[in-house]
This record gives sequence, structure tokens and C-alpha cells, in this order.
Amino acid sequence: PRKIYFSRHGESMYNVHGKIGGDSELSPRGKLYGTKLPGLIRENLGDQSLTVWTSTMKRTIQTGELLPYPKLTWKALDELDAGVCDGMTYEEIEEKFPEDFANRDEDKFNYRYRGGESYRDVVLRLEPVIMALERHENILIIGHQAILRCIYAYFMNYNHEDLPYIKIPLHTVIELTPKAYGCEEKRFKVDI
Ligand code: F6P
Repeated sequence: PRKIYFSRHGESMYNVHGKIGGDSELSPRGKLYGTKLPGLIRENLGDQSLTVWTSTMKRTIQTGELLPYPKLTWKALDELDAGVCDGMTYEEIEEKFPEDFANRDEDKFNYRYRGGESYRDVVLRLEPVIMALERHENILIIGHQAILRCIYAYFMNYNHEDLPYIKIPLHTVIELTPKAYGCEEKRFKVDI
């Protein structure tokens, strides 16, 4: 049966500093994750074929660099655009835009960053990616937290309210095997 793998990029320098968005490089731990990924995938897939999809951001491309499979970059897989808050920490956002911060907490799915996007916007822009995913054989998506929440929610039937809180940890590969009804899930955590 065909499999869909999801992974966030390895830890980035922005992750280390608690900043959101941006286009930062991987941290040393993030790079280590990138070196362990090929072995993990190979162990699960054997010599089956796979296509790797990344966003256009450095951290996803770098994470997939050592994977010996064909790759495709999708602009539609870029992280949720935090608009004027891009590059800030949550503490800075709370201080500078307290009302926005509260509004997001109130309705995280519909909250749209000033000059940026909401989860609802992201779900819409991911539609072509999901259509393509439905058609393809084995795929590994190396993505971002908000993006993977939306794709995961589609396959696992999460509602809009819960979607923005789905746990997609770093340095973990999620394997979904689509079945007649729903998907079977396995998670592989990489110790770094
Ligand atoms: O912190 C990493 C990150 O991918 C940010 O770039 C992004 O804004 C955030 O996670 C999305 O998570 P949340 O919607 O919970 O803020």
C-alpha cells in the first residue's frame, strides 16, 4: 500500500530563538536530523520509490538535501505567512499587538495576521497539493508546522477548531497509510 510521510524541517535557527516565520538556516541539531532522515526512510520503504516534496524555504530544502530521491519544491507548502509579525517571538507579538494576540487565541483557525494569512487561508492554498497527494504514490513532505497541521487534518478528519493545535513535533516522521476508511498512522521519533 502507498504511504504518505510527513516531517517538519529540522530545527532551524529561528526555532532556537523562538521566532516565527522567516527563512532561516538549520541549527546544528536540525542538520543532524537531515543526516539521519535517509536511513529512517530507507528502513521503512526498502527500495520502493519515493518523491520528496519541500517548500521553497531553506530549512525544508536543507533537511531533504541528503535524501536520494526525486524532489519537487512547492510554493504552496511555504509556512503560514505571519505578515507584520514575521520574525517576532510570541512574547514580542503579545507586547506589540496585544489585541491581535488575544484574537488569535480566541479563534486560531480564522485569525489572519495583519498582512499575512490565517489557517483558513492556508487550507485553501493547499488544495492543489492535496489533490496531487491523492493521485501520487509514496510521498514524503518536508514541511512546516502550520502546513503539516492542515494536511494532517485533511487525512485524519480533524475539525477546524482542533486543527491549529495538532501536535506535529520536530524531528519526527509521521507515516500515514491510507485505508478504505481513514488512515493508519505510525510515528518515528529521531533522538538527537
Ligand atoms: O514556530 C515555528 C512555526 O512554524 C512558525 O513559523 C509559525 O508561525 C508557527 O510555527 C505556526 O504555529 P502556531 O500557529 O501554533 O503559531
